[in-house]
Amino acid sequence: MFFDSGLLLTICCSVADSEVSCVSMESCILPCSFQDDTEVIIHWNQVTAGDSPVHSFYYNKDQLAHQDQRFRGRTSLFKDQISGGNASLQLTGLQVQDQGRYKCYTGTNRGRNESFINLKVDGEKHTEHHLSVFLSSAFINIQ
Ligand SMILES: *[C@@H]1O[C@H](CO)[C@@H](O)[C@H](O)[C@H]1NC(C)=O
Ligand SMILES: *[C@@H]1O[C@H](CO)[C@@H](O)[C@H](O)[C@H]1NC(C)=O
Repeated sequence: MFFDSGLLLTICCSVADSEVSCVSMESCILPCSFQDDTEVIIHWNQVTAGDSPVHSFYYNKDQLAHQDQRFRGRTSLFKDQISGGNASLQLTGLQVQDQGRYKCYTGTNRGRNESFINLKVDGEKHTEHHLSVFLSSAFINIQ
């Protein structure tokens, strides 16, 4: 019964990928939302890395047994907001290898959804900042 209604409601979605840019070493939120329901299954995968498991949530808790090692300790969901339909993923300590396409799958009694995010990882902000501090202090010294 459960599955039949799910199938009927799955008439979904080839919306364009969302683009997200974040800075290396910092943290980043990959947005995803679903029509809220009491029970939800969430799967985040990195599509460009052979569909690597990034983070899963079901039975009302994180399920990280199959998580790709590269993501260990760096992923979290906004637990207090999942019941309101927020399945966004926070990724910390961004690395260049994190760049690529991610899939957010959500499944509830109302139906299933997939959405895609393209994550771009930019170089560290600090490098540029340190360089300009260095240059301005060098300039002061010359005077
Ligand atoms: C599926 O995604 C679309 C577009 O984001 C949204 O409007 C719809 O409510 C979602 N359906 C479910 C069952 O979460
Ligand atoms: C989910 O919650 C986080 C933390 O409050 C917020 O930054 C983000 O914008 C929310 N995302 C969605 C899709 O509602």
